[in-house]
Amino acid sequence: MEEKSQSPSWPLRDLASIWHPFTQARTAPPPIPIVRGDGAYLYTESGEAYLDANSSWWVNLHGHSHPYIIRAIEAQMQKLQHTLFAGFTHPPAIALAERLLSLLPGKFDRIFYTDNGSTAVEAALKMVFQASKGKKGLLSFQGAYHGDTFGAMAASGRTHYNRPFWPYLFPVNTIPPPLFGREEESWEAFEMALATTDLAAFIFEPLVQASGGMRLYCSKTLAKMIKACQERGIIAIADEVMTGFGRTGSLFASPAPPDIICLAKSITGGYLPLGATAVKNSLFEKFFSPEIGAFLHGHSYTANPLACAAANANLDLLLEPACAASRARIESEHRQFQKKWKNHPKLLRCECLGTLLVLEYKTETGSYFDPLKEQLTLHFQNRGILMRPLGNVLYVLPPYCIANSELQKIYATIIETLES
Ligand SMILES: Cc1ncc(COP(=O)(O)O)c(C=O)c1O
Repeated sequence: MEEKSQSPSWPLRDLASIWHPFTQARTAPPPIPIVRGDGAYLYTESGEAYLDANSSWWVNLHGHSHPYIIRAIEAQMQKLQHTLFAGFTHPPAIALAERLLSLLPGKFDRIFYTDNGSTAVEAALKMVFQASKGKKGLLSFQGAYHGDTFGAMAASGRTHYNRPFWPYLFPVNTIPPPLFGREEESWEAFEMALATTDLAAFIFEPLVQASGGMRLYCSKTLAKMIKACQERGIIAIADEVMTGFGRTGSLFASPAPPDIICLAKSITGGYLPLGATAVKNSLFEKFFSPEIGAFLHGHSYTANPLACAAANANLDLLLEPACAASRARIESEHRQFQKKWKNHPKLLRCECLGTLLVLEYKTETGSYFDPLKEQLTLHFQNRGILMRPLGNVLYVLPPYCIANSELQKIYATIIETLES
């Protein structure tokens, strides 16, 4: 079919036909039409370049249009594009499951595929609840974000991301996360929850609460919590949807082996949607019992072969020594920036964890809805950098192919906001 391609009309055609996620259509500026990606850059039709400082919502790992991943998808496309995954299987899904199981921290036995981070979490919760006859309680951290489906929203607790849905969410026991300096308060709340609630599972984003404001917290306390849960038969679910695949330095962030790991986002390097929930046989085999029966969950595109092929190619690149070196290089650049600017009077905090750099600005509201968000977004956009601050929290989470000169451009643009 012939494509109408008058470039100036793209935003207008978009505005007339599309409903965008997490966007107030009445007030939002028109979206920027992107026609091409290459390495760390996204391009408009007229050639304007945007440096992708947030890896396109934390999915892109090795850069856009990477020839190795493209070739893997093309090769798979020639053979098999899709098949249902109940009663059928295919080589890319099997190879990917085997490789993930060998890489995950701790011993995992099974991969259940879904389409994205929310459904990777949703599947984890449904597995636990279907298998745990009677035990219903779920424990999570205040300020968590686990996705936008109903179970994932409930697990996140009551936050600004899900306020209209509060009446429809099942109850969850939430405790403060062990933020640095507040570990004891968190541990006490954790012990109280264990003592007073019949918990089936504990879900957490390891080491950093991402959408909740890139809040870093104490790994030692989390490790203690995971172990305490396991000693009591409470299933520890690590939501590594953001942290997985090297973002925090090591391949996965969980400081102690959990019982379930949820993966998505960077699993395909940002090429195709895919989610994965890794479990142990101790949970999987509960479904052998006739009373529990088959796990009642599945999606039409479960384990899509193209997505699995992309994920396998993504893993090849991730496991090359050069990739670990790039992650270490990014961290070292971030740390130098952090060392120099962390005490700036305009900042509440400046932290670094692996390839993630976080800056929280001092503002009046200090919330997700802080007007600084729009100002910062525009400041970077006007200088050709794609950033999406979380209210007054700005972060850099780049694809691993980003060059030092490109990082320096981002830092210089941040410094302008501090020194103006
Ligand atoms: C930790 C975490 N879990 C789950 C999700 C949901 O992932 P998705 O947007 O792919 O549904 C996100 C998304 O930001 C996330 O950061």
